[in-house]
Amino acid sequence: MYQLSINGMTHQEFLTHYWQKKPLLIKGGFTGFEDPLTAEELAGLAMEEAIESRLVTNHEGNWQAHHGPFEDFSKLTDSHSTLLVQAVDHWHPVAAELLEPFRFIPNWRIDDLMISFSTPHGGVGPHLDQYDVFIIQGQGKRRWRVGLPDANLKQFAKDKALLQVEKFEAIIDHELELGDILYIPPGCPHEGYAVENALNYSVGFRAPDQKDLISSFADHVIDEEVGKLRYSDANIEVRDSLGEITPEDKERVRMLLNSLINDESVYTHWLGTFLSQPKHDMDLAPLDDALVADLLEDEIDQKDVIHRAGGVRAMYQLVNNEILLSINGETYHIPGKYLKQIQLLTDETFFSFNEVKPALNCLEFKQTLTTLINDGLYYIEAWS
Ligand code: SIN
Ligand code: CO
Repeated sequence: MYQLSINGMTHQEFLTHYWQKKPLLIKGGFTGFEDPLTAEELAGLAMEEAIESRLVTNHEGNWQAHHGPFEDFSKLTDSHSTLLVQAVDHWHPVAAELLEPFRFIPNWRIDDLMISFSTPHGGVGPHLDQYDVFIIQGQGKRRWRVGLPDANLKQFAKDKALLQVEKFEAIIDHELELGDILYIPPGCPHEGYAVENALNYSVGFRAPDQKDLISSFADHVIDEEVGKLRYSDANIEVRDSLGEITPEDKERVRMLLNSLINDESVYTHWLGTFLSQPKHDMDLAPLDDALVADLLEDEIDQKDVIHRAGGVRAMYQLVNNEILLSINGETYHIPGKYLKQIQLLTDETFFSFNEVKPALNCLEFKQTLTTLINDGLYYIEAWS
């Protein structure tokens, strides 16, 4: 278990003063930090087809980015190189535990754990990210500079896959040591260069923009075959100019669109489905012999522990007296009185079967849990 301490602040103090506002150096954020994996293990993951990885080199100021999977690591040179692997939490349960201390931020905002290994002088260069990130220092040391957002900073592509930013003024300039953490809000320029071979862990967040939202909403409307209400204008009057789209026409169309977004059932179902969709491949192990909902209590010992698999996105919404449970892009409807048991699925990484038992007399809950276990999104660890 990793114990996070944010310079003596409470979670709320951090949220109030820093979250999405300004960068923060958290000295000794984790005391006695132990790397959850080795650089060799990270390289092993970067050889996998399903895992997104990159190798960035900057020999003599010449920036190059290479995309995995990698068959060999000849480009991971003794200096000036960095290997980056995305969504390691989906593949490595021990590394996934590094997300847990950051779960004072809602599940749906958490994206993934990216891990990098850099050799001296290695880094990805000065750049901006669109998302908040906590960068944890594992083995080795890395010097980081972080600045404040500046709309005048020019971005340019050093390599097709490597967007960088021009020189910036740093308000944090520090050599990170084991267990130190940097919090960087979106839009703050930053750069980090290894001083010695270094492992860094980036806890990344997601925040959709309007374009992401509207395109996903449109897909949902098509998939669910909703949105059939058609434009109507029963009370129009003869106009002087027939070429004009009048403010009243415009408003009627806007209201037609808004009425779909304001449809609580359509909106809620889409939102949970969208926000719970994973962005990266998952390492799930569906059961070979599927469980049958009605026999669940015979098959699972009450002391067995049920775990949420790494990278599974679980969240819920309360609508009237119903819970919309959304897990990895699927939404299930459960009666509101089973909130405590639903919260075990969404708020805990593991729980005992005994704890969910009170909800097993609810058909929807029992079927949902069975599906989740059969699909490998949750898995059973026998207690003995
Ligand atoms: C890295 O670990 O090299 C990249 C982290 C970041 O700048 O977001
Ligand atoms: Co960054």
